[in-house]
Amino acid sequence: MRMILSIFIALWFGYGVLSAPASLMQDKRRSFKVESVRRGSNTIYGPAALRRAYVKYGIVPTDLGLDLDDFEPIVNVATTNSSKSVVEPDQTGAVSAASVSGDAAFVSPITVGGQKFVVTFDTGSSDLWLINTRLPETSIEGRSAFDPSKSTTFENMQGSTFNITYGDDSYAYGGVGTDTIDVGGVTVAGQAIGLPTQVSASFLEDSYTNGLVGLGFSSLNTIQPQQQSSFFETIAQVLDEPVLGASLVSDGVGEYEFGIIDRTKFKGDLVNASVDASSGFWKFESAYYKVGSGELQKNDQATATIADTGTSLMLLDQHVVDAYYAKVHGATYVASATGYIYPCSAELPNFSIAIGPQHLATVPGSLLGFSEVGTNTTTGEAVCYGGIQSNQGLSMQILGDSFLKAFYVVFDLRGPSIGIASPV
Ligand SMILES: *[C@@H]1O[C@H](CO)[C@@H](O)[C@H](O)[C@H]1NC(C)=O
Ligand SMILES: *[C@@H]1O[C@H](CO)[C@@H](O)[C@H](O)[C@H]1NC(C)=O
Ligand SMILES: *[C@@H]1O[C@H](CO)[C@@H](O)[C@H](O)[C@H]1NC(C)=O
Ligand SMILES: *[C@@H]1O[C@H](CO)[C@@H](O)[C@H](O)[C@H]1NC(C)=O
Ligand SMILES: *[C@@H]1O[C@H](CO)[C@@H](O)[C@H](O)[C@H]1NC(C)=O
Repeated sequence: MRMILSIFIALWFGYGVLSAPASLMQDKRRSFKVESVRRGSNTIYGPAALRRAYVKYGIVPTDLGLDLDDFEPIVNVATTNSSKSVVEPDQTGAVSAASVSGDAAFVSPITVGGQKFVVTFDTGSSDLWLINTRLPETSIEGRSAFDPSKSTTFENMQGSTFNITYGDDSYAYGGVGTDTIDVGGVTVAGQAIGLPTQVSASFLEDSYTNGLVGLGFSSLNTIQPQQQSSFFETIAQVLDEPVLGASLVSDGVGEYEFGIIDRTKFKGDLVNASVDASSGFWKFESAYYKVGSGELQKNDQATATIADTGTSLMLLDQHVVDAYYAKVHGATYVASATGYIYPCSAELPNFSIAIGPQHLATVPGSLLGFSEVGTNTTTGEAVCYGGIQSNQGLSMQILGDSFLKAFYVVFDLRGPSIGIASPV
C-alpha cells in the first residue's frame, strides 16, 4: 500500500509540458502588464478579510469554536489611505499598482473614460463597477468617483441595471453604461460598466479600492435585461493571447499581465488543469491535498475549487482546515475570530492541493500566516490568524491570494484552463 501510494505521488509530480503557444500576431493585438507593488506596512485584521469573503459568497458562519478568555483580539482595524498614494502609470505602458493592508488585496489602476481609478481585479466575479457620482455625496466623500458627465466616450445603457448581491446584507445596485477602458496602455471601447446608485456599507468600507473589475466568465455577469461581456472576455479580443498571468507577490513587487504567458516569470513547467466555466468561475478539479510532508489525502467532499484573485484567504472544506491546524502547535478554533488562531511563534507546515487530476501545488508554510490578531492574555504571546480558513460548508473551495501569491498563475480563456508554475 505504501509503495503504491509513493508511486502515485511520484506520478503526481510529473509535469505537464508547456507547448509553445502560437501567436496570432495581428497588428492590433498586444499584451500589457499591470504591476502590483506592496505598499505600506499596515496589517489587516484577519477576521475582517474572512468576513469579506463570507459576504461575497453568501456564507453564514456557524460558531463552532470557543470564545476564549485568554485571547484578547486587536479591535482596531488598520485602514489605508489608498488611492492617493498609488503610483501613476509610467511611460512604457506598464502600470504599477499596490498590494494593500498586508496582502488583504491587490489593487491596480485603470482609466475609464479618461478618469483614473484604483480597482480590484477579481477573477471571482464578472461585473465591472465603479464608485461614481450617482451615489449620495456623503458616501463618496474624499474618494475618487467616476463622473460619467465628464467622459466624452460614456454612453448610457437606457433601461439596463446591474445588481450584485453578496449574502444577505451586501449589495451594489444601479444603472449601466458603456465606456472606453485603458489598462496598461491597451484600450477597449464599449465595455459595460455598472454605476451603482445604492451600495451597502460593506462596499464603502473598502477605502483602498474604487471599484471592481470582474475577470470571471460572462455567465456570472448580472446586467439585466441583456447580460454583458465580462471585462476579461471583452479585452481578450484585442490581446495577443486570451490570457491573464498573475504574479502576486507577498511583501514585494507583483504584476498582472494580460495577453502573454511570460516565461521570465516562472521556472520549471506550467502545469495545466482544465476549467469548468459553466458556473462563471475559474473552477477546476481538486480532489487531493497534503499537509506538510504527510500522506496524500483524498478529499471526498471536494466538488470543486476556484481561483479567486478578489479573495484574500484560502477557504477550504472544514475537515481539510482541521487537518491542517492539527499540525500547528497551539492552534485553536475561536468563534470570536471565526477561525483558527495560533501562537505567532508556531511553525506552519506547507500545504499542497491538487490542481486538476495530475498535479499538486505546494504553498510554503511561510506564506500561510495571514496577520497578527491579538494577544494570549495568559502568556502575553502574540496570536496569529492563518491564511487557511473554513468555507463553512460552501459547495466549493476558494483559492484566494494566500494561495495565488505563492505561484505564477495563468488564467487562459482557451480551453479554458488554469496554469500554475513556481515563480522565479
Ligand atoms: C494561551 O496560552 C495558554 C498556555 O500556553 C494555552 O493553553 C492557550 O491555549 C493559549 N490561548 C490561545 C488563544 O492561543
Ligand atoms: C488619511 O489621510 C489624511 C490626510 O490626507 C490624514 O489626515 C488621515 O490621518 C489619513 N488616515 C490614515 C488612516 O492614514
Ligand atoms: C437585487 O437582487 C436581489 C437578489 O436577487 C433581490 O432580492 C433584490 O430585490 C434586487 N434588488 C433590486 C433593486 O432589484
Ligand atoms: C516546504 O516547501 C518548500 C518548497 O516550497 C520546501 O523547500 C520545503 O522543504 C518544504 N518543507 C517541508 C517541511 O516539507
Ligand atoms: C492547457 O490545456 C488546454 C486544454 O485543456 C489548452 O487549450 C491550453 O493551451 C493549455 N495551456 C497551456 C499553457 O499549456
